[in-house]
Amino acid sequence: MVKLYTLFLLSLTSAVVFAAPTTPVAESEPLRLIQTGEDKEPFWTTEKQRLDLILKNVGFMDVTDHQELSAFAAPAKKPLPKVVAHQEKFALYVGQISTANMKTALTTFSSFNNRYYKSPSGVESAKWLEKQVSDLIATAGGKSVSNVRRVSHSFSQFSIVARFEGLNATLKNSPIVIGAHQDSINARSPTTGRSPGADDDGSGSIGILEVFRALINVGFRPVRPVEFHWYAGEEAGLLGSQDIAKSYSSSAVDVLAMYQNDMTAYAGTKFAEHFAFVTDYVDAELTALLRLYAKTYGNIAVRDTRCGYGCSDHASWNKYGYRSAFAIEADMSDTNPYIHTANDDLSLINYEHMKQFSKLALGFAVELGNYLG
Ligand SMILES: *[C@@H]1O[C@H](CO)[C@@H](O)[C@H](O)[C@H]1NC(C)=O
Repeated sequence: MVKLYTLFLLSLTSAVVFAAPTTPVAESEPLRLIQTGEDKEPFWTTEKQRLDLILKNVGFMDVTDHQELSAFAAPAKKPLPKVVAHQEKFALYVGQISTANMKTALTTFSSFNNRYYKSPSGVESAKWLEKQVSDLIATAGGKSVSNVRRVSHSFSQFSIVARFEGLNATLKNSPIVIGAHQDSINARSPTTGRSPGADDDGSGSIGILEVFRALINVGFRPVRPVEFHWYAGEEAGLLGSQDIAKSYSSSAVDVLAMYQNDMTAYAGTKFAEHFAFVTDYVDAELTALLRLYAKTYGNIAVRDTRCGYGCSDHASWNKYGYRSAFAIEADMSDTNPYIHTANDDLSLINYEHMKQFSKLALGFAVELGNYLG
């Protein structure tokens, strides 16, 4: 009953919006269709309405460009390994991960006024990040088979996709993906407000950049492609990741597994330091495998938590039928309290905690990157 009533109310709302051409506000700003739950009807919103939802911590996906899901055949999920198989490789690589590097990079990345998906500084920060990746590839020369490309969207910030090619040609259409989101938001003043986004999601972005650097340094040659994604526009409703998941789905890219890094540097205060594995809107089997990697390659506890609808970019891959998983810095009741404000700055960054997540991402790259299934 509640749902039906809501549905009626919502369709009435959108009908009014479209049937009232004399309303200048509705006409001057293109409305966006958003969804706040899997079983909830999408509805049209102004930017102000979306910012209010962010301030109230209501997760949403902007589905304006993602209404034709039924046109996409969900790929058949492939079996995953059940055991850890590449400890010796991990042991060779892990020494490359440096908290000093992470600190240097995160200091610059959080110094852009903000990394909002449609602000000029959000484009500058994307260019800076892209340059870090392309410089690393250039320094490797022929030692590593890797490349980087931009993915453009309907807004100014672009996403970045870096890829290690795999040795086995049979698996070249079945990459694994390590993701993070590069954008930040000051929910009270998104365009001009200060938003360091040091934890959200500077930590994930720089944590996986450091894994990428480590793998470049050792001349990583996985058997299957290993991709690193830095998504644009996550804070605006998972825009960048949905675009990429949609394009992979429509060109039948058979992603084996996607692992998201979003907020990895604040260890919380309630529990002993831990990885918090998100259990909703994820693939349960992949999550179980990541818990095993965390126990094998991390040095902290493992807990479970729930993050809600539209919580981060793993949800975009889940929506398009791929296996995805997400581990966050702490139980959702105990994550960084300053995200989406000017106070999400370097003062609360715990580089050792961040490094635990880099180890997990490295373990994921080494294990599944070398998996022949
Ligand atoms: C390449 O991958 C395929 C598919 O998993 C596998 O059957 C084959 O043995 C692999 N080739 C090599 C040389 O490992």
